Amino acid sequence: MTTLHVRDLVKDYALRSGLRRSVLRAADRVSFTLSPGRTVALVGESGSGKSTVARMIARLERPTAGTITALDDTGRTVPGRDYRHHVQMVFQDPFASLNPFHTVEHHLLRPLRLHGRVRDRREAREAVEHLLERVNLVPAADIAARRPHELSGGQRQRVAIARALAPGARVVIADEPVSMLDVSIRLGVLNLLARLRREEDLALLHITHDLATARHFSDDILVMYRGRVVERGPADAVILEPAHPYTRLLAAAAPDPAARGRARRITGTEPTGGPLPPSGRGCHFRDRCPSAMEICSRTPEPVEVTPDRWAACWLHTAEGGGSRPLRKAGATEKCPPAGKTPSGADPAGAPDRDAPG
Ligand SMILES: Nc1ncnc2c1ncn2[C@@H]1O[C@H](COP(=O)(O)OP(=O)(O)OP(=O)(O)O)[C@@H](O)[C@H]1O
Ligand code: SF4
Ligand SMILES: [Mg+2]
Repeated sequence: MTTLHVRDLVKDYALRSGLRRSVLRAADRVSFTLSPGRTVALVGESGSGKSTVARMIARLERPTAGTITALDDTGRTVPGRDYRHHVQMVFQDPFASLNPFHTVEHHLLRPLRLHGRVRDRREAREAVEHLLERVNLVPAADIAARRPHELSGGQRQRVAIARALAPGARVVIADEPVSMLDVSIRLGVLNLLARLRREEDLALLHITHDLATARHFSDDILVMYRGRVVERGPADAVILEPAHPYTRLLAAAAPDPAARGRARRITGTEPTGGPLPPSGRGCHFRDRCPSAMEICSRTPEPVEVTPDRWAACWLHTAEGGGSRPLRKAGATEKCPPAGKTPSGADPAGAPDRDAPG
């Protein structure tokens, strides 16, 4: 079952430098689906277009082209006016996303009232306390009365998550939700998101730079490079046996637990720039790719390399000297359906609560 369908999403930004104008394509025909109870991680280096995709899904920015369709539990399209109930975003910086002058209760009441989920004061108080308990912020009445500066970073991010749940969201887009938190409390917040996804059947798009987190907390991974999705598939397979040379580079650069946190040697070259202009034909990775060949000046379309594994790379095509792919697809081919890998158990059995504050 699908709860969000992203198809051929494009975002062009107009740039001006003196008298010169140009267009930068931050997202180039990005397609995937999200399903209830499943986490998809969106990974890629800085500037690859991850937040641009997130902002378009959260309707903070308008796509240049492409469609985003939300579906309810019966498979019907969610009408435009209800879209914001259905899809909510959790931002990287919990402090910036909360108003320092307002209490936690105020932050949670606003979306509850806006989306018509409470009728009177008693219902409002109960709903606020219930939301806080769902994100493990207790005693709820005490937390509700505090202002953001009276909470720890982890508690603030929990309030931000509770606020995202307030309108009854079925899809949560979390853009680097723990990268600004102290390392010691990150696992607790990630486990909270994993529990909510599991128990409340949420669809989660988790944007992260951290491949280990992506692997342990998600079912599927999408890898973006310079605006394009270059690989997608089950999390373990993508990290342990990358099919795209860029994913191999990312996986090689990730800290290796066996090497006690030291980064492994990176093969390949340094990046030479951000996203390409819309005219950027060919494989965007070819200036860094150790396997680049002549055909790479033509844009590779995603092909299914093993069941449910897709890569946009000529190496996996007969034209590029590889074996024939299982299937070829246009960019509209959807993300591998939810299914095979078991959904994220809480790694290390860490609790999903912070130290009391
Ligand atoms: N409003 C804007 N105007 C012009 N260019 C923009 C705008 N927003 C983003 N960009 C550009 O689009 C590209 C993608 O940016 P985006 O923020 O989506 O990357 P990201 O993958 O989220 O990076 P990071 O991991 O650093 O957060 C970058 O080159 C960025 O400079
Ligand atoms: S299409 Fe060519 S340049 Fe791009 S990743 Fe594959 S081999 Fe490398
Ligand atoms: Mg970003």
